[in-house]
Amino acid sequence: MTRLTLLFLLCGLLLAALSTPVLSGPVQEPAAQEEEGTVIEDQMKAMKGGMRQLRRGLRDAENLPAALPIILEMQQAAHISKTEVPRMAAGIEDEKERAMFVTAYRQGMIATQKMMLELEDAALEGNLEKCAELYNALKDAQDKGHDRFTDG
Ligand code: HEM
Repeated sequence: MTRLTLLFLLCGLLLAALSTPVLSGPVQEPAAQEEEGTVIEDQMKAMKGGMRQLRRGLRDAENLPAALPIILEMQQAAHISKTEVPRMAAGIEDEKERAMFVTAYRQGMIATQKMMLELEDAALEGNLEKCAELYNALKDAQDKGHDRFTDG
């Protein structure tokens, strides 16, 4: 075997050794997946959709019957959300403080549910003024709730 042949052989072996782990190594993980939405996020989106529909839906008495199923859907979404734990809770190290945060969130959602029940009642009564008042109160609860219980 000439020196040149030996050199070629060695190069070949070296190349094979270098490429093997790449070719037969574990399949690379796909790029990090988008974070999944929480139950609260999904339900809040439904509430947002409801609020959007109610913005016009509470203006005329003749639209109130159509607003009722929307209000019921929002009540359901609030009901599902209230026993969940907001994302932000994970960042609170102190156990007592975290428990207080979760309780305060639940109470905030209970207050929201009460408003939604009152809104249903006002819509049944055809009380447009009360409906508008409660719609605004819900908007306010949304802003305050997000200030306190979300990072965003
Ligand atoms: C009608 C009233 C409300 C509406 C329409 C509403 C709507 C929303 C929307 C659109 C999001 C973002 C969802 C996403 O795309 O990720 C959200 C998130 C959130 N909302 Fe509300 N919200 C309302 C009231 C409240 C109240 C009263 C509270 C607290 C007592 C609250 C607590 C939260 C929390 C904690 C999140 C973050 C989700 C998580 O941590 O998992 N919201 N909300």
